[in-house]
Amino acid sequence: MDHFLYKDGVLHAEDVPVSEIAAAVGTPFYAYSTATLLRHYALFDDALEGTDHLVCYAMKAAGNQAILRTLAQAGAGMDVVSVGEYLRARAAGVPGDRIVFSGVGKTADEMRTALEGGIRQFNVESEPELEALNDVALSLGQVAPITIRVNPDVDAKTHAKIATGKSENKFGIPIARARDVYAMAAAMKGIEIVGIDVHIGSQLTELAPFEQAYGKVAELTETLRADGHNIRRLDLGGGLGIPYARSNEAPPLPLEYGALIKRTLGHLGCEIEIEPGRLIAGNAGIMVSKVIYLKSGEGRDFLIVDGAMNDLIRPAMYDAYHDIVPVIEAEPGVDQHPYDIVGPVCESGDTFAKQRDLPPMTAGDLIAFRSAGAYGAVMASEYNARPLIPEVLVNGDQFAVIRPRPTFDEMINRDTIPEWL
Ligand code: LLP
Repeated sequence: MDHFLYKDGVLHAEDVPVSEIAAAVGTPFYAYSTATLLRHYALFDDALEGTDHLVCYAMKAAGNQAILRTLAQAGAGMDVVSVGEYLRARAAGVPGDRIVFSGVGKTADEMRTALEGGIRQFNVESEPELEALNDVALSLGQVAPITIRVNPDVDAKTHAKIATGKSENKFGIPIARARDVYAMAAAMKGIEIVGIDVHIGSQLTELAPFEQAYGKVAELTETLRADGHNIRRLDLGGGLGIPYARSNEAPPLPLEYGALIKRTLGHLGCEIEIEPGRLIAGNAGIMVSKVIYLKSGEGRDFLIVDGAMNDLIRPAMYDAYHDIVPVIEAEPGVDQHPYDIVGPVCESGDTFAKQRDLPPMTAGDLIAFRSAGAYGAVMASEYNARPLIPEVLVNGDQFAVIRPRPTFDEMINRDTIPEWL
């Protein structure tokens, strides 16, 4: 459920007409709903009720500090994958002891910043990373809390580019090698083992792959405990999918996911961490764009809009489907018309949708891309010298620009021209 609904024929973000935001900030832009963010966070928090747990929002999904603060104030921790994300989370007010650090390529500098600033744990993904972290911790006279991310070799049954739990993926340590790596970690003076980490992929639409992976983690917990390791925390990653098309069957709910976690791992008495990103932010955001031209092609009509692949890369990158709706609701009984919805960027890949039914559109009309809150703004670029589009946060009947559109001068002045030119 989200808070982008039609009221009096106009798409609203909570109590604010989307057309009003468009008039104030111009198009294209992202708008997020506070109520939806908080609702999605609460779904996970409630799903794990009765279990010692922390929901560490995977901020790679949408990292604006206003979003982070909204969630942190509700009690969320954060999953970060770079020092940039770590510093952003800290700037938003997230305490270090609520931040977990994931990722296969953490550098010594990144480790140092996080250790000095305070961190809940590092999710270590390889032996060389473990050695590097030990060295950094010892040089600071600290002990780094870690889990080791294991790769359970489970098929997440999702898009190949976002599956991470198969043995051919770069992520984690093969689960068969885990005992050796835990033994290695236990012998390091700068390392403290606190648990196990696993994350098998994103946009999972079934629970079975989670069940397989978590079953393996349960077994591994017992084995490692028998080896003498104090496994007290399980980080189960993120990955629960969202409904992108309203017509499709909805993926499992956080409540069912929480029940699965309790069923497969509850007997171990571990503290549970989860790292959902998409489910919290995805349907909490829309991208709003304006029709520039209607162009008739050979046997098809193009809707050329002012948003483009650089603003929302998911359709071009993953062939992702996003529902696209008019901001002004069609009158009942109006015939829909199929459009190819494309942006102004000079590539054919800059196509959001082909032959998508919408009410008849004209230049100046506004459309909204739904489910754009996760992996939208964060994956945007300035390709074609297009400014990053603004982000707006709505809360009830108020809204605020949480990242302004840069001016062309700001963009242009970032380059420096060598003196020999
Ligand atoms: N934890 C780890 C270690 C991850 O790598 C990810 C996502 C998450 C948590 C959050 O997963 P979520 O709950 O959001 O599924 N750009 C792609 C998605 C990439 C996901 C990368 N890792 C997309 O637009 O679909």
